[in-house]
Amino acid sequence: MSSNRQIDTDGTDSQLTTSGETDEAVEDAWSDYQFEGEAKLSVEDLDVYYGDEQAIQSVSMDIPEESVTALIGPSGCGKSTFLRSLNRMNDRIGSARVAGTVEFDGENIYGGRTNLVELRKRIGMVFQAPNPFPKSIRDNISYGPRKHGDLDTSLLARLLGRDDTDDEDALVERCLKQAALWDEVNERLDDNALGLSGGQQQRLCIARCLAVDPDVILMDEPASALDPIATAKIEDLIEQLAADYTVVVVTHNMQQAARISDQTAVFLTGGELVEYDRTEKIFEDPESQRVDDYITGKFG
Ligand SMILES: Nc1ncnc2c1ncn2[C@@H]1O[C@H](COP(=O)(O)OP(=O)(O)OP(=O)(O)O)[C@@H](O)[C@H]1O
Ligand SMILES: [Mg+2]
Repeated sequence: MSSNRQIDTDGTDSQLTTSGETDEAVEDAWSDYQFEGEAKLSVEDLDVYYGDEQAIQSVSMDIPEESVTALIGPSGCGKSTFLRSLNRMNDRIGSARVAGTVEFDGENIYGGRTNLVELRKRIGMVFQAPNPFPKSIRDNISYGPRKHGDLDTSLLARLLGRDDTDDEDALVERCLKQAALWDEVNERLDDNALGLSGGQQQRLCIARCLAVDPDVILMDEPASALDPIATAKIEDLIEQLAADYTVVVVTHNMQQAARISDQTAVFLTGGELVEYDRTEKIFEDPESQRVDDYITGKFG
């Protein structure tokens, strides 16, 4: 059977499919999340299409700075697509088309003047599968700053007396400490990063992201490939990072969203943002019946 017949407490009955499709009308007020402080990212009427298929439908939401925002919802509802639209990673997908605006510190990143290299430096991304470069731990951290011209340890720099080796050492130490990895790797900074455990590799990827001084860190299911202990370390780290960075994290794990996030946005079938509010409100007293059904495990 592909649908559950359910009787609501108010006596009405509604048809709910396994993907959560109902005739429930979404109210704008459900995602009109009010918070104190500045919005780091402000999304307005965002649509994303792959060819003729619409993956994100008219999503508007403001993401507060220095906090953790969780994006949850069933597989295929557009979480990764939405996340990628926040630093224009969808540009790399030939069939993807984006309409609407995403303001980053008040500036539309889809406006004509955006420098994509600079944008992705300030809005970094961490993926589901750890993807360190096949280089030393140290080089994984210094690669970005070197590429951006912020570090120079070449022979020429040394000859000209502009050698940044001390700066590089300080940067590597700072980023590895921020990513809670320093104590585990400081004796083997020149070893290949691929020799680290999965959880260590993921923390290295976070450290690599921090090395270019981002404001925002986007994470797409950063712990879903890890065991419970490695996952707990990533969760602790995400909470700590929110003191200085704006973190947006996609997760399939409802407990994880409840544990680590300040606010939660729930996407449902068809790429619709159904509800967005303080995390406790979403998990304890959501406005939408479908959100309630989703978080209590009735579908998804
Ligand atoms: N590169 C792509 N080309 C075409 N369609 C895509 C592409 N990426 C995603 N889609 C489609 O867009 C919709 C949303 O996909 P998306 O990956 O954003 O969902 P998701 O919520 O992240 O799912 P999951 O939880 O499984 O990761 C899906 O219907 C998917 O098939
Ligand atoms: Mg995804």
